[in-house]
Amino acid sequence: MTRKIAILSLIVMISTSMFTVPAFASISDAQTVQQQKKMVNIAHRGASGHAPENTMAAFEKAFVMKADYIEIDVQMTKDGELIAIHDTTVDRTTNGTGSVGDYTLEEIQQLDAGGWFGPEFAGERIPTFEEVIDTYRGKIGLLIELKSAELYPGVEEKVAEALMKRNMHKPNNKKIIIQSFNHASVQQSKALLPNIPHGVLAGTSWANVTDEQLAQFATYADFFNPNMNIVTDELVDRVHHAGMKMYPYTVRTQEQANNLFERNVDGIITDFPEYVYKHPVKN
Ligand code: G3P
Ligand code: CA
Repeated sequence: MTRKIAILSLIVMISTSMFTVPAFASISDAQTVQQQKKMVNIAHRGASGHAPENTMAAFEKAFVMKADYIEIDVQMTKDGELIAIHDTTVDRTTNGTGSVGDYTLEEIQQLDAGGWFGPEFAGERIPTFEEVIDTYRGKIGLLIELKSAELYPGVEEKVAEALMKRNMHKPNNKKIIIQSFNHASVQQSKALLPNIPHGVLAGTSWANVTDEQLAQFATYADFFNPNMNIVTDELVDRVHHAGMKMYPYTVRTQEQANNLFERNVDGIITDFPEYVYKHPVKN
């Protein structure tokens, strides 16, 4: 009899431990949800893990997935039109070849910017900057990157004109941010649009950025957005201490996202907006 009871107790103990979630797991999940609710979710080149980058398909996907911002790379055509494309050539993301700046708008919009990603996206065009802001203003935030600005003299003025024409340069407009790896271009843009928050992008060569350099950036920038591989707790603290926020790039796995959440960054720039728990995927 005693032996029967002992065996029964053992079975109860094993089944209980198999099916009961330990208390610490639910606390940790709750903390994670809280952490992520504060996290700004930026869809890199649109939701570019799901649709061809910098196309209306990718921006629309990010909007449907309820990202907080879409990130858009802005360059200029030969005839001075602003367009959304990342590389300085069209080779990787279209069926054409050659430099972006050698195409007129009409020519570049004849290229297929979607077929490389998947047959269902064939026929996507390279959108103009104005088309993107007209479609999404007031609906989702815009993180505008002045890409390779040194190749396009006057690009800062053109972006400023497009925003001012639409009254999108107003004070406290927190849904537009302008950033660049070209820090002179950021300074120039900030002078034209003093009420729009600006950010400096920082590649891995900025891993040892000093407090003095951060203080200098903070004279014109509101964000220090680094390559995620140089993010440490200490760097996050120093950026915050300098009065700036941090949105690291480019998150392509959930593990990378979780690691940045733990570091207390302010948001992440990701190809997959579903990595921020508050916005689950909707197909
Ligand atoms: O927004 C940051 C990120 O877009 C910078 O890198 O090369 O993807 O433009 P890249
Ligand atoms: Ca970019």
